[in-house]
Amino acid sequence: MDYKRMPIEIESPEQLGYENVKYNLTESSVSDVIYSDLRLHLNDLKLCYGHHVGKPELRALIASEFSNISEEQVLLTAGAASALFIVATSLLEKEDHLIVVRPNYASNMETPRAIGCEISYCELLFENKFEIDVEEIRAQIKPNTKLISITHPHNPTGAVVSKDTLLQLAELAEKHNCFLLADETYRELNRQEIYPAGASLHNRIITVCSLSKAYGMPGIRIGWLITQNADLFEKFLAAKEQIFVCNPVIDEEIAFQHLSKKEEYFSMAGKHITENYNSLLNWMSRESRMEMIEPAGGVVCFPRIKNGGSIDMKKFYELLNTKFQTFVGPGHWFEMPAHYMRIGFGWPSNKELEQGLQNISLCLDHFIK
Ligand SMILES: Cc1ncc(COP(=O)(O)O)c(C=O)c1O
Repeated sequence: MDYKRMPIEIESPEQLGYENVKYNLTESSVSDVIYSDLRLHLNDLKLCYGHHVGKPELRALIASEFSNISEEQVLLTAGAASALFIVATSLLEKEDHLIVVRPNYASNMETPRAIGCEISYCELLFENKFEIDVEEIRAQIKPNTKLISITHPHNPTGAVVSKDTLLQLAELAEKHNCFLLADETYRELNRQEIYPAGASLHNRIITVCSLSKAYGMPGIRIGWLITQNADLFEKFLAAKEQIFVCNPVIDEEIAFQHLSKKEEYFSMAGKHITENYNSLLNWMSRESRMEMIEPAGGVVCFPRIKNGGSIDMKKFYELLNTKFQTFVGPGHWFEMPAHYMRIGFGWPSNKELEQGLQNISLCLDHFIK
C-alpha cells in the first residue's frame, strides 16, 4: 500500500489547532455534542473486549429502521472512515478497476490509489446541478470493474441521488458483477425525504454510515457497514478483526445511548441546522459574486466564485485565513478548481456562521470590485 497524506487532513483544523481557526466553516458535521448534555449512564460499564461484530443492541437499533435489514447485516466500524477502508481493501486488488464519482470524500479515492487500482472518474458538474449521469458510469464499466463509489447525500455539494438513480446504479453493478459503495454518512441530514439505507434497497449496495456527521459525535469513532450479502459481511468482519479487533466498548455504549434518544436530539439539532441554512441562503442571495447549487442534503455546500479563473485564489485564501481568521474547504481538497469552496454551515454557531460568511464577502472586496 502506497499511503499518501491528503490535503483535507493536512490543512484541517485538527492539524492547525482549533484555537487558531476563529470562524470555522470547514466542518462537514453538525455542532459537536457535549458529553454532560447527553446524561449518559456509564458507571457500570465493564471495559472488556467488545463483540467483534459490534454491540448487539446498537446493531439491532440501527437495523430496526429498515424492515428488511437485521442486526446480522450490520457491522460496527471505527467511524465511516474505517468502513470505507475495509470495503476498499476487501474488494480491490491492484489489477482492479473502479469508478468513482468525483468530487468525493478524499479517502474514497486515496485508498484505491494506495492499493494501485485503476480509477475512472465520473465528474459531477455545477452546470448539471452536480447530478450523477448513469449513462456516463455505464460507459466506463470494464471487465475488471469491481466497485462504483458514490457519496449520497453528497460531500461536498449536498446533492442528493434520487432513489431511481440509486437503483439504476445498483442494477448496473449487478449486471457487471460488481458492487455499489454508497457512502451515506449524511443520510439523515436529507432536507427532503430521508431515504432508506441503500443496502436495504438492493443486495448490490454496500451502505456506509456513522455518528460523526448527523449526530455530532466524531470524537467517538463509531460507524457501520450494512450489506445483505453474507459472504461479503464475513470478509468485512475478517478485515475489521485484523485492523482493530473490536470497537472501544465505551464508544459503543455512548453511541447506543445517544441513538436511543435520536428524536430528542434531532429536534434540537434540526432547529440549529435550519437557522444556519437560512443564514446561508440569505447571504448567498446578497452575494452576487458567487453562485451555488442549493444543497438538498447534508450540512455542506460547494459554491464557486463567478469567473473564478480571473482572481488569484492562493492570495484569496491566504487573506481569508489571516486577516479574516475564516476557514473554508478550498476546491483542491476535492481535486476541484480553487474558485470552488466547501462551506460547512451546520457546525458553527449562527453568529459565527454569519460573521464567517460576511468575512468571505469582505475578502472578495479585495479582489473584485
Ligand atoms: C462522505 C464522508 N464519508 C466518510 C467520512 C468519515 O467520517 P467518520 O468520522 O465517520 O470516519 C466523512 C468525513 O468527513 C465524509 O464526509
